[in-house]
Amino acid sequence: MTEHAETTTGFGHGKVILLGEHAVVYGQPAVAAGMQAGVRAHASAGAGSVRVPAWQLDVQMGDDSPVSSAIDRLCQRLGVAGRSLDFWLEAEVPSRAGLGSSAAMAVAIARAVAARTGAGEDDVLAAAALAEAVFHENPSGIDTAAASRGGVGRFDRAAGWQAIPVSRPIELCVGLSGQVRQTSDLVSSVAQLCQRVPVARRLIDALGDVARAGMEALASGDQVALGHQFNMAHGLLSGLGVSSAELDALVRAARGAGALGAKLTGAGGGGAVIALASDRAEEVLKSWRSMGCYGFLTQVGK
Ligand code: MEV
Repeated sequence: MTEHAETTTGFGHGKVILLGEHAVVYGQPAVAAGMQAGVRAHASAGAGSVRVPAWQLDVQMGDDSPVSSAIDRLCQRLGVAGRSLDFWLEAEVPSRAGLGSSAAMAVAIARAVAARTGAGEDDVLAAAALAEAVFHENPSGIDTAAASRGGVGRFDRAAGWQAIPVSRPIELCVGLSGQVRQTSDLVSSVAQLCQRVPVARRLIDALGDVARAGMEALASGDQVALGHQFNMAHGLLSGLGVSSAELDALVRAARGAGALGAKLTGAGGGGAVIALASDRAEEVLKSWRSMGCYGFLTQVGK
């Protein structure tokens, strides 16, 4: 490896899953988008400190925290000792909110390290996937794919990420419940449900069908159909037990404010919802503010 005296940087997108979360773990297709907002990592020669001020995160490589183990694995995959670098990260997405913060961090760090070693994008993805596996035992890979690629894409475990051309950018309101949660817990709760009550697998299959229909709606620009698909997906995800009273309230408020559809996004159990607001974005965001919840508007597929 060439020694770099200078600081190198890398970026990873935050993500929203439009359709297919949880089902994607079981091989169904999902649709996700990388947001403009994400995480930027700066790597410089140092002694293994990792600081993310926006998340109040300050760890030292080797301290046995999941973050340090994840970065250690990632660096090893790229042929670098994590303890020989310092990482400082600027995060524009909240952590543990269903917006792919850990994958964005992993991709950003992997790119900052790759900029020092000359590793290619395949190695970046492989290294980020190893880091993600520390946070979630059985990640489908959708978060790292969206974090590295950006834009809107179809993802499944067999074929990976395929960019989807969308007829025009999609405006989404993103609402934060303020509850943090652990993706791995939600993924295991779905696995347990499927084991105890096998008919739950039918909901997984239905989520895959809704995601396929969503791809058609995206291709033809049929926002009304997409709104219905968001609503159906939220119902199915609730059936799998991954919604919460707060997420249901945010979804109801968005629909009441005139959104074409709304659903939880990501693992659920807390975290975030997305609403397809069409020309009612201001009203949707206002309805969430009146509940004391922060929301923002993002465009995907630009
Ligand atoms: C988490 O963003 C998405 C899940 O489907 C888990 C995964 O795909 O790894 C819940």
